[in-house]
Amino acid sequence: MKVLGIESSCDECAAAVVMDGREVLSNVVATQIPVHAVYNGVVPELASRMHTEWILDVVGKALTDAGLEPGDIDGVAAAAQPGLLGSLLVGLNFAKAFAWARDLPFIALDHMLAHLYASRLAVPGRTEEPAAYPFLGLLVSGGHSIICRADNFDDITVLGTTIDDALGEAFDKVAKHYGFGYPGGAVIDKLAKTGDSGAFRFPMPKLYKKNGVSTNDVSHRCDLSYSGLKTAVINQLEQFRVKPASGENEAADFAASFQKTAIEILLRSLFRAIEDTGLATVVAGGGAAANSLLRSRLAERKDIRCVFPPLEFCGDNGAMIAGLGYQYLSRGDRSPLTVTASARVKAFKRKYP
Ligand code: KG4
Ligand code: ZN
Repeated sequence: MKVLGIESSCDECAAAVVMDGREVLSNVVATQIPVHAVYNGVVPELASRMHTEWILDVVGKALTDAGLEPGDIDGVAAAAQPGLLGSLLVGLNFAKAFAWARDLPFIALDHMLAHLYASRLAVPGRTEEPAAYPFLGLLVSGGHSIICRADNFDDITVLGTTIDDALGEAFDKVAKHYGFGYPGGAVIDKLAKTGDSGAFRFPMPKLYKKNGVSTNDVSHRCDLSYSGLKTAVINQLEQFRVKPASGENEAADFAASFQKTAIEILLRSLFRAIEDTGLATVVAGGGAAANSLLRSRLAERKDIRCVFPPLEFCGDNGAMIAGLGYQYLSRGDRSPLTVTASARVKAFKRKYP
C-alpha cells in the first residue's frame, strides 16, 4: 500500500510516499527556515501563507521522486495536531482534497505520534529492527517534550511532559537572545562542541517542592521544566559562572554548559521513567532527537537499548506521517472529511502544580 503523507505543522512544508509503512519511496521537505531566520523564530502568518504557495509543488515532487502518478496512491495521511493552526490546516485540507478527488482512504493523525513512529522507517543501509512494544518514547521537539510509555503506534501513556518550555524551544530562545541564529538547536549543538561545559553551573529544576518544602507528590517525577534554565542563561549568566571568563570562547562555553544542563534535565526524568516502568528500550523522535550530546549520553547506558530515527527523519517530515498513516489505514481506520486541525493536545503539556 502506497501512502502519501503530508506534514505542515510548523515551518517545513513536507510530503512523502511510503510503501507498507516502512519503505520510503520519496521524502520532500521544503524548509522555510531562511524566511523565518530573519525574525529569529517562526512567524505563523508567513508560515501558513508559504505552505499554501508551496504545497502543490511539494506533493508533486514527492510523487515524481517516487516515480508515481497521483492515480498510483492507495491512501492519504496528514498531520492534524498539534502545531500552528493555520499551517496545519493547509496540509490537512490539501490531503483531504486529494483523497476526496480520488476517493481514497484518508486519515488525519497526531504529529507527535508520527515523530514516535519515525525510527521505524527503513532507509537503504539501515539494518536496525524497529523496537518491539511496549517501550519508552522520548519525544523532543520545538513545541513538546514528552516521556511516555508506548504500547502501540496509537497507544501512548504520558509519564512526563514539560510544565513550561519544550527542550527545542529552550535552545531556540537562548540562541535567539544571543543572536546565534535560527533554529537554535543545531547551532548550539555545534557551538557547544568547542566549549567547556563546566564553565557555568546552571541549576536543575526541583519539581517536587511546594513553597520550598519537599512534598511526597511523585506525580511530577518524570516532568520537565526549562524556563528556569532559559532564564538563568539569558538573564543571570554571571551568577552561574564557576570558571574565569575565557575571552573568545565565552559563547561556546555557556552554550556547552547550557546544553549539558538541558540534556541532564531530560535524562534525569527519562531515567526515572526507566526505573519506574522497568522498560529498557527508549525510542526517540522529534527535531531535538538530533542532539549529539543526548545521543552520546544515552549510548553510555549499556543496559538500555536506544533507538533514534536517522537524522533526516528527526525533524518534521512527511515520511513519518505516511508510515504512521499506513498503520491506521491498513487496520481499516478512516477519518471523516469533516475532521479539523487542533493546535494543542492537552495531555502533552502539564499544568503545574
Ligand atoms: O520536530 P521539529 O522539526 O519541529 C517541531 O515539531 O517542533 O523540531 C524542531 C526543534 C527546534 O526547536 C530545533 O531547535 C530543535 O528541534 N533541534 C535541536 C537540534 N536540532 C534541531 N535541538 C537540540 N539539538 C539539536 N541538534
Ligand atoms: Zn515536529
